[in-house]
Amino acid sequence: MNIDILLGLQWGDEGKGKIVDALSPVYEVIARFQGGPNAGHSLEFNNIKHILHLIPSGIFHADKINIIGNGVVVDPAVFKKEIEELGPPVSELTKRLIISTRANLILPSHRILDAAYECHKGVTKIGSTLKGIGPAYTDKTSRSGLRVGDILRKDFHERYNEHLNNHLEILRNYDFKFDLKEYEKGWFEGIEILKKFPIVNTEYLINEFISNGKKVLAEGAQGTMLDIDFGSYPFVTSSNTISAGACTGLGISPKMTGEIFGIFKAYCTRVGSGPFPTELRDETGDILRNTGREFGSTTGRSRRCGWLDLPALKYSIMINGITQLFMTKADVMSGFETIKVCTSYWVDGKECLEIPFFNDSLIEPAYADLQGWNENITGIKEFNKLPRALKNYIEFIEKETGVPVTIVSVGPDRKETIFRS
Ligand code: GDP
Ligand code: IMO
Ligand code: MG
Repeated sequence: MNIDILLGLQWGDEGKGKIVDALSPVYEVIARFQGGPNAGHSLEFNNIKHILHLIPSGIFHADKINIIGNGVVVDPAVFKKEIEELGPPVSELTKRLIISTRANLILPSHRILDAAYECHKGVTKIGSTLKGIGPAYTDKTSRSGLRVGDILRKDFHERYNEHLNNHLEILRNYDFKFDLKEYEKGWFEGIEILKKFPIVNTEYLINEFISNGKKVLAEGAQGTMLDIDFGSYPFVTSSNTISAGACTGLGISPKMTGEIFGIFKAYCTRVGSGPFPTELRDETGDILRNTGREFGSTTGRSRRCGWLDLPALKYSIMINGITQLFMTKADVMSGFETIKVCTSYWVDGKECLEIPFFNDSLIEPAYADLQGWNENITGIKEFNKLPRALKNYIEFIEKETGVPVTIVSVGPDRKETIFRS
């Protein structure tokens, strides 16, 4: 048995949470491999919307094992809040959620450093979610981080203070006011909640699950265009959001990977700063934002909206080795007479199919016009019943990318998912 991977192909918020939840019945184990509380994964069922930040999106299925892998950065304060809001008691959740000893911790001072760095950058700021992601991964890479397993050590508090003092030393160089006490209280309470859960070397567990024929799904966070290596650096997150990240973030060999599912919205959105070639700063962008309720699940910020970007989608498919495409938010596209799809870029006067290295290149998207549709498609259950124009749109994308679209999502509820047979 192999491990399947599901990840975002755009700038995040493609609907990963919803689809992982909808696919969970097919899997026995669901594992997050990177990112942290910068993620906001929304799920809807029984008319209730849940937003998960650290916990894998299989958590609402009582018989599934959920794993927070070594590649994730964990903020205990966020973890505590999320556990409390889930519904089931902690004694129940400890049977379904396991955390890696090797996952790095986000300290309260990482969040303060994140805010101080962004403030110092001024107009060049990244638009970080300010959850401490960058500074926590920086400490991981510079080999000076604290990890979840360290909370079990007798001298954890001394170690914490040592790290805090290093951070306070850095903060002395910034003219930035902060209140550490406010964060610290919730953080230490969160440490006590974390200790109630199994904290193990999850790489052994996952490999054992795979060897025993259990179906495992790796759940990505953010999106390929926010990847630390392949996104529009420096306007990216601090982890490898791509399929290779699942190997390093869970401790599995590339030869174990099975299907690699790529999720994309029928259009594009981006939160935070950075290039966005197909961005619509007009009424059409407002329609997409309002119809698609494009406001951040983590920060509440308005998402920038634009037409589908095929050069970016093809790039993501190539980097990840995508075997199946899942299209979300098809329902949001109902009502346009014409739908535009970017098929190439014009960069500095020349046609270009590649994602340019320079973020400040002047990119003019070249568009193909496709016919729109008017029908409300949210209640549709079968692919064949979708409007002809939407099927043409999907076929156009399949032809351009060479990858089949096997799921079409037509609403936020887990039931509003069309599996194409
Ligand atoms: P994630 O970070 O990739 O899990 O995505 P988010 O949860 O941040 O953002 C996706 C948003 O779109 C959430 O509010 C979902 O409830 C919603 N959503 C997901 N799929 C669909 C869909 O097919 N149609 C509509 N209208 N909303 C959807
Ligand atoms: P999910 O998993 C959308 C963006 C931020 C910012 C940049 C860096 O819900 O799809 P960071 O906090 O990582 O330092 O921010 O990345 N970003 C996301 N955008 N969805 C996300 O996660 C994101 N996580 C980070 O807005 O531009
Ligand atoms: Mg999100």
